[in-house]
Amino acid sequence: MQTLQATILTSVLMASASAQSLGAKYYCPAADNSTGSPAVISATGSDVVGGNALNLLASGMPNNQFGFFLVGPGTGLVVNPGGSQGTICIGGGLGRFNGQVMNSGSSGTISAVVDTLALPVNPLTAIAGGETWHFQAWYRDLNPGSASNFTDAIAIGFRDVGITADCSANLTSGSAPLTVQFSQAAVGASGFAWDFGDGGNSTAGNPSHTFSAPGTYLVELVTTGSAGSAADLLVIEVTSGPPTFSPVWAAFNVVDPNVGLSCLGCHGVGGFANLDMSTEAGAYAALVGTTANCGNGNILVIPGDANGSLLYQKLANTQTCGQSMPFGSPYAGDLALIYDWIQAGAQQ
Ligand code: HEC
Repeated sequence: MQTLQATILTSVLMASASAQSLGAKYYCPAADNSTGSPAVISATGSDVVGGNALNLLASGMPNNQFGFFLVGPGTGLVVNPGGSQGTICIGGGLGRFNGQVMNSGSSGTISAVVDTLALPVNPLTAIAGGETWHFQAWYRDLNPGSASNFTDAIAIGFRDVGITADCSANLTSGSAPLTVQFSQAAVGASGFAWDFGDGGNSTAGNPSHTFSAPGTYLVELVTTGSAGSAADLLVIEVTSGPPTFSPVWAAFNVVDPNVGLSCLGCHGVGGFANLDMSTEAGAYAALVGTTANCGNGNILVIPGDANGSLLYQKLANTQTCGQSMPFGSPYAGDLALIYDWIQAGAQQ
């Protein structure tokens, strides 16, 4: 049994070593093609310069269509270039491997070995250690008439023999502001240059960096040492922070045209149903997690469950006990905002 497991493990390790996947995917929205999904690029082989050991693969293409790979030094974002259905994700001068035009055949894939000593940019360029290059594929499609499209893009950092730039992060996604602790496990490196992709830089080995705005950032570490230079990449996704809901209480202050009264008109100090909403803090405390007077076991605000909260039911006129609010008429205020506030956890 143990022997069997060891054999399986060894073969898995060997399989993954022989097809080591390379590169980082940065945000670039590949558009669906006539198959109904986008085509994707991947890279395997070696990131060491000077050899022809880098393989590119594009899959998910329509069958029996022509395509070729593209390369460039930077990121870009051009949607529907020249009437294409796709997006160019490469910037800084686009090179076309148009000496290697391929047919996607019955598998919808194309693949190519890249000559890393002669990238088809102008002039022909050999990849050097410490450089990052970006790859993507262009292809023909019938969707429904003759059209073209692109895969998503991959960024690959290259290295000289004897030096690496292995970088990692304690977090690769989260909401803004996002503080990320970066670290490196580089071999043969004495100098470090981090580019956080948002204009920030560092020369520390293990820097921490705060991304203040939402976005997708391609973080690059370039290391230097006696053997030369190396680059490695990471993608950090920063989403927008949690919404703020101060207008919820403000809405309870607004006079409702249906009744000519705000909630506070009846639910101020000593108001009906022991619901004193005369201060913001009091209103939150009186509502969130509070058992209602009305009906058996009703809770006024259940964080994360707007439809089950009696407050929301009374405002939406779906309550199973008592009157809709404000007293006897539907709420004319911002019901969607209150719904979102409860769904998001009903924070004060
Ligand atoms: C005209 C006076 C009046 C206004 C205006 C009013 N309410 Fe009420 N409210 C009452 C009365 C009376 C009750 C108790 C009877 C009932 O639940 O039907 C009550 C009950 C409630 C309850 C149930 C409390 C419990 O513990 O059962 C909630 C929740 C509530 N109101 C929310 C609001 C909100 C929010 C507003 C503003 C959009 C508002 N009310 C406006 C008179 C009012």
